[in-house]
Amino acid sequence: MKLAVIGHPIKQSKSPFMHTIWLGELGISGSYEAKDILPEALAGEVKALVKGGYDGWNVTIPHKEAIIPLLDEVDEQAAVLGAVNTVIVKDGRLIGKNTDGTGFMKSLLLKRTAVDIAGSRVCIIGAGGAAKGIAGALVPYQPKSLSIANRTVSKGERLLNSLIINGEKSALTMDEAEAQLDEFDIVINTTSVGMVPDTDQTPINMTRVKKNSLAADIIYNPLQTAFLKQASEGGADTLNGVGMFVYQGATAFEEWTGEKPDAEKMIKRISESIGGT
Ligand code: ATR
Repeated sequence: MKLAVIGHPIKQSKSPFMHTIWLGELGISGSYEAKDILPEALAGEVKALVKGGYDGWNVTIPHKEAIIPLLDEVDEQAAVLGAVNTVIVKDGRLIGKNTDGTGFMKSLLLKRTAVDIAGSRVCIIGAGGAAKGIAGALVPYQPKSLSIANRTVSKGERLLNSLIINGEKSALTMDEAEAQLDEFDIVINTTSVGMVPDTDQTPINMTRVKKNSLAADIIYNPLQTAFLKQASEGGADTLNGVGMFVYQGATAFEEWTGEKPDAEKMIKRISESIGGT
């Protein structure tokens, strides 16, 4: 099995570490490499991967959208998002998928049941690619209400309009979300605000979060963002981005190999390798 992740830059990626361990644990002979590919080289390099006998690869920044015209087929989730994070080579055909949203939901289900989610008022912070994937994956769970807070409110509005949610929907400014924090049962940061090196920043102030609500961040470095730290101090339960990262990878791994890797054990290993709290 020949696998890889393509992106630029790519050296910070934890995917090779994770997939190499899974190949070993499941006794599958093969490799998973990181390939640094510049945007202008993408088309040529994709051809080279196919020629080189690769069975599939992950796609990360900045190629998630640009790769679509180079593929033979994309699944519905990836088509709706306009972004692919996993490519599977099947009988010489390139199939694109997006496993980010379902990866987030699997991680969220470690903390809340489907019934909890259906009874929750959910606020997503951000309206970019990551927010779209998560919002789309939330739809089958039909939360009691869904708010999207974004710096550019019109983007939040547009995203909400594309979603079939039976409950109340509202597009908010960051200030409005902060003022309404006591109403939300689940608040999800999908922006990159707070990621290394800007670890003291938060997209909104979380100190007035509802007690016993859940604050989730898709960032996994640092493990505890300032957003999660404030939420925790305010009495909320927290979920960092390691679970989403591991489950998006586990879903891709299953697509390529047909085998289910041990995601829970990997969440522990990756958390230890990043360190901190
Ligand atoms: P991704 O694919 O990672 O979601 P993206 O599509 O560029 O990346 O979306 C980034 C999101 O983070 C957007 O919601 C963006 O807000 P805008 O739509 O107003 O641009 C948000 N974001 C990025 N930097 C931000 C910052 N410093 N403060 C607030 N929001 C920010």
